[in-house]
Amino acid sequence: MTSRDLDSFKRAAALKAVEFVRDGMVVGLGTGSTAKHMLVALGERVRTGMNLRGVATSQETAILARESGIPLIDSENRWEIDVAIDGADQVDPDLNLIKGGGGALLKEKIVAAAAKQFIVTVDHTKQVPVLGGSVPLPIEVIPFGWRNTAREIEVLTKSRPVLRERDGVPFKTEAGHLIVDVHIARIDRPGELETALNLIPGVVETGLFVGRTNVLIVGTPQGVHTLHVPRQ
Ligand code: A5P
Repeated sequence: MTSRDLDSFKRAAALKAVEFVRDGMVVGLGTGSTAKHMLVALGERVRTGMNLRGVATSQETAILARESGIPLIDSENRWEIDVAIDGADQVDPDLNLIKGGGGALLKEKIVAAAAKQFIVTVDHTKQVPVLGGSVPLPIEVIPFGWRNTAREIEVLTKSRPVLRERDGVPFKTEAGHLIVDVHIARIDRPGELETALNLIPGVVETGLFVGRTNVLIVGTPQGVHTLHVPRQ
């Protein structure tokens, strides 16, 4: 399986997700390589006359959206997001996710929470029986006292948090926070872990997205599979 193959599966999933977007909708725009395909496809819709507006989950996505001709809503007003479309780093059988490989997890979670429908697009290699293992859990933390915060995370998870760096310096999120990546062998109870992590002072948000996915779209060598979660 080449990276080109995987990219074609991501693209197929993203194109399927765009079929959920209807004229007049406000769309939460995810971040990452899968989301890029979605932005291009949405841009084509706009060019052919569809009226839609986007809420970007990162500056990178905002730039790509503008280049694709997608009008963006500013962050000042309360959004009414009809559908948010985003990628993920891992998906378990209950459609819980690990996200944040690109560092945009905070805005991504805010937008997912604000959306009436959250659609997740992945290639099949992201599907796992249990979250964790090879994919670290990103946790966004306040810089002040972050080593102490990281120690509390370590005690809770029994796994060592690693400060994310880029070009040899600590990676800063768009909100000015740090990210620690935690390799956890198995996340058997993601909901409980998400709650416990969020109780640690200094933790801003985690890359665990639990119970948020409404539709999972998976690009596979055999085609695109769509899974709907019944609304609660
Ligand atoms: C960005 O912070 C992430 O949450 C991405 O949504 C996630 O890493 C998926 O990225 P790809 O679509 O590039 O695999």
